[in-house]
Amino acid sequence: MTSYKLLLLPGDGIGPEVMAEVEKVIGALDALGLARFEIERDLVGGSAIDAHGKPLTDEALARADAADAILLGAVGGPKWADVAYEIRPEAGLLRLRKDLGLFANLRPAICYPALADASALKRELVEGLDIMIVRELTGGVYFGEPKEITTLPDGSKRAVDTQVYTTAEIERIAHVAFDLARKRSGRVASAEKHNVMKSGVLWKEVVTKVHADYSDVTLEHVLADNCAMQLVRRPKQYDVLVTDNLFGDVLSDVAAMLTGSLGMLPSASLGAVDAKGSRKALYEPVHGSAPDIAGKGYANPIAMIGSLAMCLRYSFGLGEAADLLDSAVTRTLASGARTRDIVAEGTTPISTSEMGDAIIRELKHAA
Ligand code: IPM
Ligand code: MG
Repeated sequence: MTSYKLLLLPGDGIGPEVMAEVEKVIGALDALGLARFEIERDLVGGSAIDAHGKPLTDEALARADAADAILLGAVGGPKWADVAYEIRPEAGLLRLRKDLGLFANLRPAICYPALADASALKRELVEGLDIMIVRELTGGVYFGEPKEITTLPDGSKRAVDTQVYTTAEIERIAHVAFDLARKRSGRVASAEKHNVMKSGVLWKEVVTKVHADYSDVTLEHVLADNCAMQLVRRPKQYDVLVTDNLFGDVLSDVAAMLTGSLGMLPSASLGAVDAKGSRKALYEPVHGSAPDIAGKGYANPIAMIGSLAMCLRYSFGLGEAADLLDSAVTRTLASGARTRDIVAEGTTPISTSEMGDAIIRELKHAA
């Protein structure tokens, strides 16, 4: 069996706890003969700052570059609130995304039937929800220059962030969205602010042009603010939702919460397909490092385990193993297992590692 090189970057806060569950799942996949990995580990974020004085070392970046895929936990926390902006924990994650060219961020928002009541919205609005947010990840206001705070003659300050998009950047993310839509329900919505922003005007124009190659897919343009409203009003109207880096950050948090918990959602960040047909890829939960619950065994490992499932599917073509893992998660939830974030009032939650064990039991049962 092919052995894939996987780099694990647990990061900070609950990152190491949820990654420990993924390591158990990796062991189970190996034991079941479903997938084999060569595992490497390194530091990112605050843990790397503590050890090396920066959130990502060149060695860790080189390891990430050499790996077949990367799994990342989460970065950041109050402990590093006062470090210099250039070396804050988040800078490590942004460098990984940028330097590895991971421009396409896929963030599925799926509402598990067993969890429809955990959503802040009414059950009928979210039951069966299955949205794929396609967020541009290496451009826009996150990386545009100038990006600075300068001091004006009167001593007050002026802050600048720059939103930049080129035709090529919009084209490639639009292709990702349309290609995905073909494998789903054939609908794409593209969100921008062309009524206020030049980058929005170009975004809309380029997405419309790329759409000409996809006559089998329908395209709808929506203003990003209206999109946020529609997501809480009638979320099931969307299938694939493509948008820029900043709007994607915001809209994917909204979409995540529709599903009941931020602790449920995985994501994939993919690079361009190279001549050999492979692409760089990093998989991480949508949730953050949740420092308030770190180390307590409260964290939900499902988003991290789901990120491994996405990795099996998108990086290694192991669709069958991914399906087995995804359905093990669904059955575990259906059996009533709940971590604190998704527990119903009056019932008892299980711990992070108990949830991992329950999923592995279901996996072994089905394999
Ligand atoms: C995310 C996070 C990151 C982002 C932070 C941690 C830099 O919010 O992945 O959604 O803003 O992209
Ligand atoms: Mg975010």
